[in-house]
Amino acid sequence: MANPSLLILAGDGIGPEVMDEVKRIIGWFGDKRDLTFDVSEDLVGGAAYDAHGVPLHDDTMAKAQDVDAVLLGAVGGPKYDDLDFSVKPERGLLRLRKEMDLFANLRPAQCFDALADFSSLKKDVVAGLDIMIVRELTSGVYFGEPRGIHIEDNMRVGINTQRYTEAEIERAARAAFDLAMKRNKKVCSMEKANVMESGILWRDVVTEVHADYPEVELSHMYADNGAMQLVRAPKQFDVILTDNLFGDILSDCAAMLTGSLGMLPSASLGLPMANGRPKAMYEPVHGSAPDIAGQGKANPIACILSFAMALRYSFDEGSEADRLEAAIEKVLADGARTADLMGPEGGTPLSTTQMGDAILAALDESL
Ligand code: NAD
Ligand code: IPM
Ligand code: MN
Repeated sequence: MANPSLLILAGDGIGPEVMDEVKRIIGWFGDKRDLTFDVSEDLVGGAAYDAHGVPLHDDTMAKAQDVDAVLLGAVGGPKYDDLDFSVKPERGLLRLRKEMDLFANLRPAQCFDALADFSSLKKDVVAGLDIMIVRELTSGVYFGEPRGIHIEDNMRVGINTQRYTEAEIERAARAAFDLAMKRNKKVCSMEKANVMESGILWRDVVTEVHADYPEVELSHMYADNGAMQLVRAPKQFDVILTDNLFGDILSDCAAMLTGSLGMLPSASLGLPMANGRPKAMYEPVHGSAPDIAGQGKANPIACILSFAMALRYSFDEGSEADRLEAAIEKVLADGARTADLMGPEGGTPLSTTQMGDAILAALDESL
């Protein structure tokens, strides 16, 4: 059988730096586990704009549609702040999500024991945390029409529209319930049904879909309360289901429960392809971190854990994903820290490459 194919879009800022470590990990699985991928690379975001004048070339979009999975680093940066909105780096990422129809964005937040002391919250609040945010990714206010900046009565008006069809809510809800069935069978759905009609529909449809999952306990929460509960008592949650914008914000919030935004991976999944694998893109939750880009300081773990999610969700290699996650857990337990994971006690942080070295060594030890 042909090797599975991967398209790497490293992007901007720290994207290429963290992706270099993922490439070494991919190489390790080829050498040591006979798990070989056909890897191709292309440009996205500001890097694509610099080369082609657009944040995603049509050829790159076509390649993304054709491969078994896409791995993306990060896009954006101050250099591109003044570009026309239509060619901003972030538009490249949003085009990939929309055209690949990646409606289910899985954002796990897990607190590794070794980092429980490091979270900005009390250790008891986060130790042992393991939650999964399912963020709807292809609709809502990110894509709703009408949108734009218009002149009305000699004044500029900025417009975005929150819009959800019941089919869009239903498929995101099914993704969340299916995941909950493999976890602790609890879903908390978050919206603002108290102030938004789209929230009322969201709550109705999620409740209807729940009828097919009688074993799963379903609760509903207003998203603002959800943000508060996430920092008050995050372990009350198993799967959180929410829309595109609330999911963006709640997942950054959840990142700090794990110690650093540099720890949070994600999988964006769509419909099954002809070969049975879901359309998929894997990317860290963090961005291009312009404040530390080019300095070798970035934590590569979020991007490496995103590759672990690819092993699990695209390639049915759950035990190899476990191996990679265990290697990361081990290096953290041994005290390996990039700068973002340094506590007030200080010490010398590892560089991005040194963290990669440590994880590769732990993988070798796992054999
Ligand atoms: P950011 O996630 O890039 O950075 C926020 C903070 O977290 C910064 O202080 C940064 O140094 C730190 N950080 C992030 N990732 C880290 C890592 N791996 N290791 C160590 N520290 C890390 O968010 P921002 O500053 O709001 O956005 C910067 C740019 O990135 C913007 O152009 C934004 O649109 C873009 N962005 C892209 C993505 C993506 O590509 N998926 C996600 C979020 C933001
Ligand atoms: C994320 C990012 C993106 C989003 C941006 C860069 C388009 O913040 O993946 O969390 O808002 O979805
Ligand atoms: Mn975000």
